[in-house]
Amino acid sequence: MTTVRKIRKAVLPVAGLGTRFLPATKAVPKEMLTVVDKPVVQYVVEEAMAAGIEHFVFVTGRNKGVIEDHFDIQTELEATLRERGRTAELAVLEDMLPQAGATSFTRQQAPLGLGHAVWCARDIVGDEPFALLLPDMVMRDTVGCLSGMVDLYEKVGGNIVAVAECDPEQAHRYGIVGKGEALDGGFRITEMVEKPPKGTAPSNYYINGRYILQPEIFNILSSQERGAGNEIQVTDAMLKLADRQAFSAYPFGGETYDCGSKEGFILANVAFALSRDDIRPLVADGLRKLIADG
Ligand code: G1P
Repeated sequence: MTTVRKIRKAVLPVAGLGTRFLPATKAVPKEMLTVVDKPVVQYVVEEAMAAGIEHFVFVTGRNKGVIEDHFDIQTELEATLRERGRTAELAVLEDMLPQAGATSFTRQQAPLGLGHAVWCARDIVGDEPFALLLPDMVMRDTVGCLSGMVDLYEKVGGNIVAVAECDPEQAHRYGIVGKGEALDGGFRITEMVEKPPKGTAPSNYYINGRYILQPEIFNILSSQERGAGNEIQVTDAMLKLADRQAFSAYPFGGETYDCGSKEGFILANVAFALSRDDIRPLVADGLRKLIADG
């Protein structure tokens, strides 16, 4: 096992406007839309908690205050639940609560891209490797995606990017990596390209929204020019860091739902509903009927 510094902090960029989900996201942040009964962002925080993350850095924007409230106690609600003896609901609230002092919130101020959002977390993260989790992407598996990445990181060190395979027709929507030498639990990344034009992707391994990055990325991001979509891209900065440091891919074996798209969000709701014993029978029955009726 390589000696590596523990991944203690996670960065969650939550500043996006969510225009694809208007009017739902007019007053409610897209990260607070629910998959069954939990906001999207909570799935991602729970995945990070399960991987041993101790501090959550949210890069937010205007109108996102409710995310901060969601990860705080709600005194009146809890008092009422206690009075009414609703212990199960109280436990649900307790389990999801990060420790006091384990969250930080900073604002991106201007929508300059994912790379800029990550750079906004530089002072809070400081000089240590960190996890980056994009809350649009919700994962489903018995072992969380970030936990699997931490295992690989402990073996090979450096920087780790989670990947999944996509339909080659969809590769232009994502960051794509080139596949190199096999590792125990992953492979070396040979190249990275953000949103390659159709027909030019080096593989169909797309970056599915989870990263373990070394802090040197911040310095590169501070002077990173705009790339795809005229935005500052984290993929472009990673490509520069790859000149000096190793990048390995963790092929995620579970399901990834892109909750930034309507189809992905709806599929996530269906998939998580079907994995819940309490609601599966009625939902499965209803779905069967809907599909049979065409
Ligand atoms: C971002 C990343 C991209 C990644 C994607 C996953 O793109 O830049 O590399 O594949 O997230 O969702 P965005 O979705 O912000 O356009």
